Formats: sequence, structure tokens, C-alpha cells
Amino acid sequence: MYKKFIDKLEKQGSLSFDEYLALIEHRDEVREYAAERAFAVRRRYYGNTVFIRGLIELSSYCKNDCYYCGLRASNKNAQRYRLTAEQIFFCAENGYELGFRTFVLQGGEDAYYTDELLCGVISKIKACFPDCAVTLSLGERSTESYRKLKEAGADRYLLRHETANEAHYKRLHPKAMSFENRMRCIYDLKALGYQLGVGFMVGSPFQTEEDLAREMLFLKELQPQMVGIGPFVSHRNTPFKDYENGTAELTTFLLSLIRLTLPRVLLPATTALGTVDPMGREKGILAGANVLMPNLSPVGVRKKYLLYDNKICTGDEAAQCIECLKNRIAATGCEIVTDRGDYRYEL
Ligand code: SAM
Ligand code: SF4
Ligand code: FES
Repeated sequence: MYKKFIDKLEKQGSLSFDEYLALIEHRDEVREYAAERAFAVRRRYYGNTVFIRGLIELSSYCKNDCYYCGLRASNKNAQRYRLTAEQIFFCAENGYELGFRTFVLQGGEDAYYTDELLCGVISKIKACFPDCAVTLSLGERSTESYRKLKEAGADRYLLRHETANEAHYKRLHPKAMSFENRMRCIYDLKALGYQLGVGFMVGSPFQTEEDLAREMLFLKELQPQMVGIGPFVSHRNTPFKDYENGTAELTTFLLSLIRLTLPRVLLPATTALGTVDPMGREKGILAGANVLMPNLSPVGVRKKYLLYDNKICTGDEAAQCIECLKNRIAATGCEIVTDRGDYRYEL
């Protein structure tokens, strides 16, 4: 019976709240079928290709205090670092030589990164590597700041909404952060013409199956070009240290539902998924994901960008990760390609 819902979702690209909820509740019965259909849909739009994005984790300083994140300002045990504009450029240069054509500049919300500094780095990367895309993932900023960064050449922005349920948002964040401002940022980025990425953690504390069904409706309505989901993984120095991690099973099932809901979406199999399950990223690709985001940050700082415990790949050089990923992905029958990997508006 639930297979019929998967067929309906593939055919019309959406379901009702009750239908999504029924699928999520009975996921064990349809997991394999959902993955099979999602993989086929992914193949229709993107063939066997898996895009890679070079992640440059530029700062472990953050003014915010999200209850789930190891970089939160109140974590006095966190080791803090920030990369200079030159170091960021150097990471991109190294990445370019390794074949990357998209760089993701990600970090905590750190006032050191003024619009001026960021515009300088973005325009330099775009001038030296005109065939590359620059993605930013630097949290909440003003409308004006997003506009300046776009004008400097940024192509895409990743800002996970974390949850589409305002009451749930309040349980994951302190009072100083608001759902309203998160949404303001997301709609600003969309209006400014960024390729937009949103997303949420799977299995975050207090998340219900109803919340997950609502996530699917939110994504359908927003129509983002990218969706980043990964399991919540607890960090020992946060208020959520005793909460269970999200599972690879639920994450991969949701990847399949997202692929069927937004057939052309750029969908990463995340490092967090590879952290909760050693085969997590491969399983993600087989369930409909088509993007990987290996790390290009200098090895010397990697262990300091610890959002959660036991993060993988923190001791490996970018070149090693790429080789490792190529082999892992080849085993799924897919292939990593050197390409900007833009959203396919046309077939
Ligand atoms: N500061 C920016 C922001 O919050 O958008 C970008 C960096 S932040 C570390 C990137 C993402 O990491 C967040 O959107 C959140 O979903 C994820 N994250 C943080 N803590 C996590 C945890 N404990 N487990 C899994 N993902 C986590
Ligand atoms: Fe800062 Fe982002 Fe971590 Fe929240 S999730 S504490 S904004 S780095
Ligand atoms: Fe980083 Fe395997 S992907 S070492």
C-alpha cells in the first residue's frame, strides 16, 4: 500500500501531509523501494554523476549559542581559529588543482568576516578561477550584506532553516535567535537570486514525525535548489550532550522523499551521515543524493571545527579524501565529476 504513495509522489512531485506522515511512520516497509525510485529519478536528471564541493571551514568562532552545536559561543572548551583572506584563497587554489570547481566558504557567525573582507576574497577567487562557483554558508547576515556578497560574485548560499516548526526552533535555539529572522534571511537570499540551499538535522531533540512531514511541505513550497540534511550528532560540551544521535536509516529515507519531491534538487550525502554510519555517504548516494562536500580546510585546523563528536576526515589531507571518495562512489556505480555542478533548470 505504501509503495503506491511512493509511485504517486514520483508522478506528481508532492503528497498531502497525511500521506507524507504515513510514509515516514511506515518507512521500514518502503525504504528500499523509495531508494530505488529516488535513484532512478536522480539518474534521469543527473545521470551517474556525483558533484563535489570543496568545503573551506573558515572560522570556528561563533557569536551564537545554538544548543546543538559544538562551536556555540558558550563552549569554553572549543578551540577557536580563523583563516585569513590569504589562507582562504590558498585553500581554493589547492582545491582547484585537485579538480574542485565549487568552493563552499562556511563558518560560525564571526564579525571578523566583514563584507569588505569577504567581497575581496570572493572576487579574487572568481577572477582567478572564472569557471568556479562560490557558495557561502556564513549564517544570518543583513539584507544589504547578502546583496554586496552577491554582487562580489557569490553564486549560492546555504542556510539551513533547521526546522520549519517555529515552536521546535525555539527549543533548539536561545532567545537571542529567532525563526522569524532565519526565514527573513532565506527569503532575502532567494529574492537576491542566489541558488538557495536550506535544510535541517534529522533526529534533532524534540523533532517529531509530524515535523518531518511538515518539512516536506515546506521544501515543496520553497523550491530551493539545494537541501542539506544530516543526522543530529551530539557534542559532549553542549546542552544536548545526552540526546540520541539521528540515524542513517531515517536520514537516507528522507533523502529519497526529498529527491522524489524535488527531482532536480542538489542533495548532499553529508559528513554527519558518514559519521553515524561508516557507509552512510554511499547509502545516501544510493538513496538519491548527488553531492559530496569533502573538506579543503588546512589539516592543522580541522579538529577545531567540531560541530559534533567523532567527526570523520579530520586527520586526512584533501587529496586523500578525494581518492577515498572516488573509490567509495565508484562502488555505488556512480562517478565523481569535475564540474560546477549547477542546478539543472533544463534537462
Ligand atoms: N554558522 C552557520 C549556520 O549555522 O548556518 C554555518 C555553519 S553551521 C556549523 C552548519 C550546520 O551544521 C548547521 O546549519 C547545523 O544544521 C549543522 N550542525 C550544527 N551542529 C550539529 C550537530 N550537533 N549535528 C549535526 N549537524 C550539526
Ligand atoms: Fe554558530 Fe552555526 Fe554552530 Fe549555530 S550552528 S552555533 S550559528 S556555527
Ligand atoms: Fe575523507 Fe575517506 S572521505 S578519508
